[in-house]
Amino acid sequence: VRNLYLARHGETFHNLENRIGGDSDLTAKGLVQAQSLAWHFRETPLPYVFTSTRKRTLQMAELLCRGREDCLVIPLPELDEIDAGVCENMTYAEIARDMPEVHEERTRDKYGYVYPRGEGYATLRERVERGVRKALYLSGNAENIMIVGHQAVNRTILSHFLYRRTEDVPHIYIPQDRYFHIVSTPSRKVFELVKFG
Ligand code: F6P
Repeated sequence: VRNLYLARHGETFHNLENRIGGDSDLTAKGLVQAQSLAWHFRETPLPYVFTSTRKRTLQMAELLCRGREDCLVIPLPELDEIDAGVCENMTYAEIARDMPEVHEERTRDKYGYVYPRGEGYATLRERVERGVRKALYLSGNAENIMIVGHQAVNRTILSHFLYRRTEDVPHIYIPQDRYFHIVSTPSRKVFELVKFG
């Protein structure tokens, strides 16, 4: 793979409410973001687009590949968003109100914190790396691949290439109207954040 394009799904109904996890759909704005991404990549070969198994990434990829013959969407469960366990589908405000200990401990150590019956950034890493390895294997000699992922998943993938300090990883900016263009060969490293929407 020469070029790895790393995008996040567009806006969801959960995003509107600051609600985490779950499996919500893209909003009208999220669908427009997906169309903008498709327009941006209309002349770029995209033989493989990897997503998670969540509707928001599948909807984004479906619009990205609509009407194209070269564009195969492959969902990988390894790329699913961080499992927030008992906090799935809650808002950050609800967590702070109803489970203050979760909020406090996570604020103290966001990288090391593991949600009760869920995951944390440190535990997510192994799974996401397995997903990226699988994607690279399945895409063979393809020049370009796209991953449509999630906030915590994309932070983890970026940290793999950027070697961030672990305490910075949960704070990397992962917008929904930009993608990262990553080139990572032994002799050439490029990380570009490109606006498409
Ligand atoms: O809010 C969207 C989301 O993808 C959640 O599903 C996930 O729990 C969260 O982002 C991860 O971001 P943070 O670690 O900053 O809470």
